[in-house]
Amino acid sequence: MTYLIANWKSYSNNTQSLIWLKELGKLAPVISPNLKVIICLPFTDLPEFNRHLNFSKTPLFVGAQTVSSYSAGKHTGDITASMLSELVTYCLVGHSERRSNGETSGDVAQQVLSLLNYNITPIICLDTPYMDEQIKELFRQNITLSHCIFAYEPISAIGSGQPESAEDVSRVVSKITLLTNSKSPILYGGSVSPQNVQDFINQPSISGVLVGTNSLKPSVFCQLIKLLS
Ligand code: PGA
Repeated sequence: MTYLIANWKSYSNNTQSLIWLKELGKLAPVISPNLKVIICLPFTDLPEFNRHLNFSKTPLFVGAQTVSSYSAGKHTGDITASMLSELVTYCLVGHSERRSNGETSGDVAQQVLSLLNYNITPIICLDTPYMDEQIKELFRQNITLSHCIFAYEPISAIGSGQPESAEDVSRVVSKITLLTNSKSPILYGGSVSPQNVQDFINQPSISGVLVGTNSLKPSVFCQLIKLLS
């Protein structure tokens, strides 16, 4: 299975996300059965996006971009895995943009545990400075890593237009496979575009891509779907 995952970050409100879905529908991309396309949306877009997806002919999966490390309780403003379980089957965790706001490897491990309790597949973002520490923390919490997806996202490549070379990515991906001792899919993210996506997919160790900027325009995202289908 190849994965194409969109990370919309904080770019779209509910109206914009429905326009995106309509536009993509008009382009009618054919998604091969070997390609899983997952759109990770802001929380506020999820219910309506799901509703419209039911009527759309495009077979997309839906994910969130983070989750609370807590379960139900006195945590004003937090969105728990239980709340998400009615809306998504995937969720990003530990994106470097959240780590830069103070999220730790311990927080991320808690989030992964909560998600797995509700049968939501965590997509765990990693970069080299904290990769070993994060994976150790997942092991410390006895997390079944085979139920997770990993994404190697070097901070220098995110949003910079300067992706890491596919060969370098492949080396890091092999290291993640070794550290996690699992067959979990491992993706690459960081300035992926229609121009470079094949370079990554051609590496047998890389199971797909996580795309920020180039997932925002339906026409560009449709190109990515076609290239990977
Ligand atoms: P980018 O973002 O594709 O814009 O580099 C990737 C990400 O942050 O997941």
